[in-house]
Amino acid sequence: MKALNSLIKFGAGAVLVAAGAFASTNAMAAAAKGCGTYTEADGTTVTLECSKAPIDLTNKGSLQRGAAMFMNYCAGCHSAQYVRHSRIAKDLDIPPELVEKYLMVTSKSIGDHITAGIDPEVQGQWFGAAPPDLSLETRLRGDDWVYTYLLSFYEDPSRPWGANNLVLANAAMPHVLMNLQQELGKQEYESRVGDLVNFMAWMAEPVRHQRKIYGAYVILFLLILLIPVYLLNKEFWKDVK
Ligand code: HEC
Repeated sequence: MKALNSLIKFGAGAVLVAAGAFASTNAMAAAAKGCGTYTEADGTTVTLECSKAPIDLTNKGSLQRGAAMFMNYCAGCHSAQYVRHSRIAKDLDIPPELVEKYLMVTSKSIGDHITAGIDPEVQGQWFGAAPPDLSLETRLRGDDWVYTYLLSFYEDPSRPWGANNLVLANAAMPHVLMNLQQELGKQEYESRVGDLVNFMAWMAEPVRHQRKIYGAYVILFLLILLIPVYLLNKEFWKDVK
């Protein structure tokens, strides 16, 4: 009987632990939130709130647009060493022929990982900082940080490339989306950057969406299991008391 009792406690504990684990990914993202501070021209320090990145890994259209943006605007300098082109084709429902034709900017075979167009070490000498690999960037910094960073470039003639960044002060990265920003309106531009960050979030954890679904099923299963276990416990103890 004792054993059953502890089984119930264990069951309830497991549900709590599972629920905690489920919530913790969001909590972790929240902890990593802040987008830093910057100093205004008049010397006041402003805390920058991160903007919320529109992440939706079920939105294939957005992920496809984001993949195109990443390969065309970012892979010239940044690698994404854990991502194969063939995985992009498979997961994002893009025909392999189209991936080969439009998205294989820096490599020859569809089985290759995404390498940077130019050796990052050489770039380090040009820019003063090597462009980091971006495979896991959204997990390192948080989706919202990356989204806000990309939207926070501003003109600064004192910088080598004429641009600076509010989130990463004196970033060595040029404002590579400047033309796009000027071409598209504010809303359209933000939505395209949102697609890009959505793709980067997929890249960093392709199974994130499924993981959440599995997590929900596991909790549901444990909760349902609790009912017969509780009833059994009652049944067994009925005569003892
Ligand atoms: C011309 C080369 C170049 C291109 C193109 C480029 N970047 Fe960068 N990027 C850099 C360099 C150099 C750094 C390092 C900045 C630093 O540390 O000061 C950087 C840094 C970053 C960082 C910050 C990394 C960190 O955690 O500190 C992110 C995020 C980033 N790039 C995203 C992108 C995205 C997304 C694109 C495509 C839209 C892109 N970059 C295109 C050169 C480039």
